[in-house]
Amino acid sequence: MNSVNEKDFKQIALNVNGEILVDALTPCIPAFDRSYLYGDSLYEVIRTYRGQFLYMEEHLTRLAKSAELCHLRLSQPLSFYRDECKKTLRAFQAKPGLRDTEAYCRIVLSRGTGKIGFGTENLLTPTTFVVIVQPLNPPTEAQWEAGFRYRIVDRIRNDRRAQDPAAKTGNYMNSLLAYLEGTKEGFHDALLLDSQGFMTEGTTFNLFYVRRGIIATSPFTSGILDGITRKTTIGLARKMGYEVREVLFPKERLYEADEVFMTSTIKEVFPVVQIDDVKIANGKPGKITRELKQAFTQFSLGRVAKVLEKSVERSA
Ligand SMILES: Cc1ncc(COP(=O)(O)O)c(C=O)c1O
Repeated sequence: MNSVNEKDFKQIALNVNGEILVDALTPCIPAFDRSYLYGDSLYEVIRTYRGQFLYMEEHLTRLAKSAELCHLRLSQPLSFYRDECKKTLRAFQAKPGLRDTEAYCRIVLSRGTGKIGFGTENLLTPTTFVVIVQPLNPPTEAQWEAGFRYRIVDRIRNDRRAQDPAAKTGNYMNSLLAYLEGTKEGFHDALLLDSQGFMTEGTTFNLFYVRRGIIATSPFTSGILDGITRKTTIGLARKMGYEVREVLFPKERLYEADEVFMTSTIKEVFPVVQIDDVKIANGKPGKITRELKQAFTQFSLGRVAKVLEKSVERSA
């Protein structure tokens, strides 16, 4: 087992129900919180660019969507959670040596704390929340150039009629099991098919392939998370003149692809060079993947530059 360095926790800013805790390892969640009893919670992961949260509104909109899908009534307006994330980011940036460190932010919302029992009449509190802000640990350039190797596991993605993958809940057991099973033989992560044998997505990321210059990805209706990086990448690719198809496809399409890549908030656009025992094309990041990665980074940095300009104008 990896030994966890307690010093790492000194770099974490932790906000529990609005209070910034001095020590991130302080016990703070009641045993009767629904997140703990039932995984009855939602979450979002947001990151900074040049010290500013980006895509925040998209994440909050998805949080509201997840809440709706889970029949969970948020006790506070979305703007409240935005402010709490910002407050926690400021606490992080105030820590020694972290002012210019890019941040990873996770907000977790629970239906609340109460008595055992599914019914909401058992709740004693409104929704509870935790915000964790820690140093971002993005992949290095060398890791990007080496790309990822994924295993398509036997475990299938949840059917939309079961726990809908479109809701980003605190119950990731299915994805977690897929990850543990997929990474046994040295693969980086796992991909999941649906019950019909169509590709859905990875454990914590969306998936694309390129064939003869056309980009394809599973449709939202296949049972995937509506990834914010996925949506942005599709928009950028279309603007760049590429045809992007959202279509159901079997795993064989990936084996025959010219390029495969994944998208997520932390990894942005990242090449996949092997799936199962099949090398994708020449086993190197593809041309379109590289173009999209550059376009995504440029677009994000452009957006943050505008945010910074506005805040300079406001303070002038
Ligand atoms: C299952 C799943 N799919 C896709 C994604 C990527 O979504 P985003 O680009 O919004 O980070 C995530 C991110 O956590 C995820 O958990």
